[in-house]
Amino acid sequence: MLTTVYAILFYVATLTLVGGIAYRIWEYASVPNPLKIPTGPAPRTKAGAAFRVFREVAFFESLFKSNKWIWLFGVMFHAGLLLVLLRHMRYFTQPVWFWVDLIQPFGIYAGLVMVAGLAGLFVRRLAVPRIRYISNPSDYLMLALLILIGLSGLMMKFFAHTDIIAVKQFFLGLMYFDWHPLPSDLPLLLHLALVATLMIIFPFSKLLHALGVFFSPTRNQVDDSRKVRHISAWAAKLEK
Ligand code: HEM
Ligand code: HEM
Repeated sequence: MLTTVYAILFYVATLTLVGGIAYRIWEYASVPNPLKIPTGPAPRTKAGAAFRVFREVAFFESLFKSNKWIWLFGVMFHAGLLLVLLRHMRYFTQPVWFWVDLIQPFGIYAGLVMVAGLAGLFVRRLAVPRIRYISNPSDYLMLALLILIGLSGLMMKFFAHTDIIAVKQFFLGLMYFDWHPLPSDLPLLLHLALVATLMIIFPFSKLLHALGVFFSPTRNQVDDSRKVRHISAWAAKLEK
């Protein structure tokens, strides 16, 4: 019964996540960019603009310039999350890729760093009056959801171990349409229910910044308005 419920839940969550992201990419890519609005000083070449987006994604450059505390907690959370997710690849691959094996030892610390960063971001929303004023329930809920996912994961790691071989069999089973039973301990069920929730809300929430950053005109446009006249796609059609 439990296996069936979770199997269906993860099929629905995966379809929502993949379909939702595909839809958002299409949507973002087809929104007109009528104006040249790169935040200055901006790169003059396409390669420069690409490098700027890269620095934004890899180092959170503009956040670093504006607020060191948020940058620190933000980087702790996002870098931790990245490592945790890469480490999780071992549940979905057989044989496990060699580089996934290599990062295993760091994954545990990444989990702790991720939750510490999230806690810092949560406290900031409560403690800084200016930020508290502009925070809405969704801001807190996203952080709370991620903190609970992290804590339930760490709980399995340190206190209430789950049968990770069975967990892996369950997920490989979902991928190959050959179902295996899911262990039924509480931390695992909680971890997975929250992860499915995260996957389902991702395409409809502020978490979309992960995609949006690549489409942000203030970051990805080339500062060449003195050389080339900027005409957006829809305006070019009108001119014909
Ligand atoms: C390309 C990947 C990503 C980039 C470049 C990125 C970048 C950022 C940056 C710069 C902020 C700080 C915003 C600010 O407060 O000024 C932020 C906030 C946040 N990010 Fe990401 N992010 C990425 C992916 C993700 C993913 C995959 C998740 C979760 C599944 C996530 C969850 C969050 C959350 C919850 C916050 C809000 C923290 C808060 O202000 O309370 N991010 N992200
Ligand atoms: C279907 C997807 C997922 C499965 C099957 C899964 C399963 C697991 C399992 C079995 C553990 C315990 C590891 C151990 O005992 O060695 C764990 C730990 C953990 N999980 Fe997940 N998880 C999933 C998604 C996620 C996501 C999306 C996040 C973050 C947003 C996350 C964050 C963590 C953390 C922080 C830990 C503890 C540190 C670690 O072991 O890496 N998990 N997860």
